Amino acid sequence: MNPTHLPQGPAVRYEGDVLFVEDVRVADLAREHGTPLFVYSRAAMLAALSAYQRGFAGRKARVFYALKANSSLAILQLFARAGCGFDIVSGGELERVLAAGAQPADIIFSGVGKTRHEMRRALELGIHCFNVESEPELEVLNAVATGLGVRAPVSLRVNPDVNPLTHPYISTGLKGSKFGIAHKDALRAYRQAAALPGLRVVGIDCHIGSQITNVTPYLDAMDRMLDLVTAIEAAGIPIAHIDFGGGLGIVYNDEQPPAADALWQRLLAKLDARGFGDRQLLVEPGRSLVGNAGICVTEVLYLKPGEQKNFCIIDAAMNDLPRPAMYEAFHQIVPVQRRAGAAMVCDVVGPVCESGDWIGRDRALSAQAGDLLAVLSAGAYCMSMASNYNSRGRAAEVLVDGSQVHVIRERESIEDQLRNETLLP
Ligand code: LLP
Repeated sequence: MNPTHLPQGPAVRYEGDVLFVEDVRVADLAREHGTPLFVYSRAAMLAALSAYQRGFAGRKARVFYALKANSSLAILQLFARAGCGFDIVSGGELERVLAAGAQPADIIFSGVGKTRHEMRRALELGIHCFNVESEPELEVLNAVATGLGVRAPVSLRVNPDVNPLTHPYISTGLKGSKFGIAHKDALRAYRQAAALPGLRVVGIDCHIGSQITNVTPYLDAMDRMLDLVTAIEAAGIPIAHIDFGGGLGIVYNDEQPPAADALWQRLLAKLDARGFGDRQLLVEPGRSLVGNAGICVTEVLYLKPGEQKNFCIIDAAMNDLPRPAMYEAFHQIVPVQRRAGAAMVCDVVGPVCESGDWIGRDRALSAQAGDLLAVLSAGAYCMSMASNYNSRGRAAEVLVDGSQVHVIRERESIEDQLRNETLLP
């Protein structure tokens, strides 16, 4: 692919041979803040959000950002200020969104394994809704709520059993999945929820998978969900909101996902046709709000030609960018300064002592040691999944806004890494 046509939209682009994020030269950022460095575009995040907002214009609908995609505080603050609610999956994410300025009423709590402690904290705060994923969880939430003398607002996550046509590790709505309540058991679970004194049924939700690039699975899931809403309401249990989860894919390479507004045009037409157009709608996008708003800047440490393969060893690794190792995911890798010269086909790999520590395979690059590269589409599920493997500190992060640069996370120091550990007496 010609690197002039970057997958990320206008915020990340070349001017001549020089890579920019908004109005800032990426090379300047690397010089100032070091590498590996995550660089995000504020404008790209807000543009991604406004595609949803355009799609929902005139509807009773709300975006709850799924912060597992990128939970850095400044990014949460940006989305809170732009009017988003948040979809959390742990007590840690709960405290994070509160620290970023979110209100409890703007939080929904998903996840298959909520603890009593997490439930209690969320109930005391008064969050918007619990997305409950099993019948035993209903019982536990009921007990915790009753103990506090409150009623927990619940939506049941239903498994619509449609194939999202994505990587098996990020498919969640199929029968064999640990997520959600089976479609055939949903009515029974709703009856159970409605009968428990500590619960108040407010909605229904689904999430069928991630990096979905096709409209059909969404349309199928919506049909399955609306069938259920009809049956549940016929049983005398009103459903105030319908939550369609997240999952919309982005362009990493040559995918062609629908834009959020185009997707929702199709889905809203179906909702209208089936007579549900005036319902309160929720969505929980993660990747599609941040994925293409970020890059990871890294320095080439060594070129290592080999008999069977050439390697380009960079200073970012699987601890910073875990998606290739975990899902064999593809991220474009481009030079920060394009140079003339013959390209070498190589595997781009990190310093971690694992064969799985590769970031790109068989890439044609004309790079030399000391050059800077940018790993694209690195705004989602990179920093939020980063680890300290090999005692590597987590990277720094900056947010670019026009020509302004905000450091939103300092590079993690070795003192940071050692803080919670103690030697034996
Ligand atoms: N809601 C629920 C209940 C979810 O489980 C997820 C993602 C989302 C919303 C947001 O989905 P998104 O819009 O980001 O697709 N680490 C993997 C992706 C895991 C997705 C987990 N659940 C990756 O890097 O591809």
